[in-house]
Amino acid sequence: MSSRVRLRPEIESIVPYRQGRTAAEDAFKLSSNENPFPPLPSVLEAVAGSSVNRYPEGSAAALRDRLAARYRVSPEWVQVGAGSVSVLAQLISAAAAPGDEVVYSWRSFEAYPLLVATAGATAVQVPNTPDHRHDLPAMVAAITERTRMVIVCSPNNPTSTTVTKTEFLEFMSAVPESCLVVLDEAYVEFVTDPDAVDGAALIGGYPNLVILRTFSKAYGLAGLRVGYAIGPEYLMDAARATAIPLSVTEAAQRAAIVSLEHEPELLERVERLNERREAIWAGLTAQGWASPRPQGNFVWLPTGAQTMRAGELLAARGIIARPLGDGVRVSVGEAESVETLLAATAEVVAIL
Ligand SMILES: Cc1ncc(COP(=O)(O)O)c(C=O)c1O
Repeated sequence: MSSRVRLRPEIESIVPYRQGRTAAEDAFKLSSNENPFPPLPSVLEAVAGSSVNRYPEGSAAALRDRLAARYRVSPEWVQVGAGSVSVLAQLISAAAAPGDEVVYSWRSFEAYPLLVATAGATAVQVPNTPDHRHDLPAMVAAITERTRMVIVCSPNNPTSTTVTKTEFLEFMSAVPESCLVVLDEAYVEFVTDPDAVDGAALIGGYPNLVILRTFSKAYGLAGLRVGYAIGPEYLMDAARATAIPLSVTEAAQRAAIVSLEHEPELLERVERLNERREAIWAGLTAQGWASPRPQGNFVWLPTGAQTMRAGELLAARGIIARPLGDGVRVSVGEAESVETLLAATAEVVAIL
């Protein structure tokens, strides 16, 4: 082809989002922080009973009512999207345009740079601390009059570390109220550290704070795509204004409602995953890994310059993990994967 359509240069320079690798039959897919438990029968029933030839109810009213009751806010304070990443995209589009800046910690969730670039805004990445945590004072220092938004990820994907309550309160008191703060809590249900920030307790306390949560991880609905934000009505209205209409399917809305109704059973699964996570972390520590204490459903292996090799070695031993820059993220998966994983990491640690 000789001629090409003229595209936005900042879009042409983006490397499209790369999903965690799929696994061969006999390998464990631990590359996407998915929930290994099968869906509840009641979720499958709700999905099967959803209409397919009709459009969904676009505002997800019934689900928003349930979430509003749960967080003790009005339904206008809730925005539901096709995954929490969709709601994040809506908020970024609403707040940041070309010339504006969005501050976030790096390394963090792979989608942040893509979503910021898509909005035409400029990403300002603040390096994690040497112990793989957000450096909140440095993030505050990175705020300029061009900053429209700061994203805080706790637990942080991929390092599995949290921000403490005290750190977050200090941070909020230093951020100008004209700057949107999104606290991305995709993995909050897996947190066991009592000092970690809990966004739910802060709702309504700030005019510029939004929390982001999802049904993809603890609730095991990743394939249905449903997540949400809670925050002041004017911010949720702005997200609604930039949303692609009717993108949350009826199946997803119904499955999310059923999941809220069966929460104790799902949270019991989270406890089992957390026990597995602790066993993995203890095993890694005994092998000499300096992995930060994990608080999400995944662990971080700091492999530095050996990251790609480490990823390949793990794959050769039946563990499909996610090599990311200077470390490998491994999701907590099936019970049977733990032994295979620890046998493989014992080999990897030897090459570091
Ligand atoms: C930190 C973080 N936020 C948000 C998401 C998006 O999740 P979803 O769009 O499935 O709700 C993910 C998914 O991996 C994540 O790791």
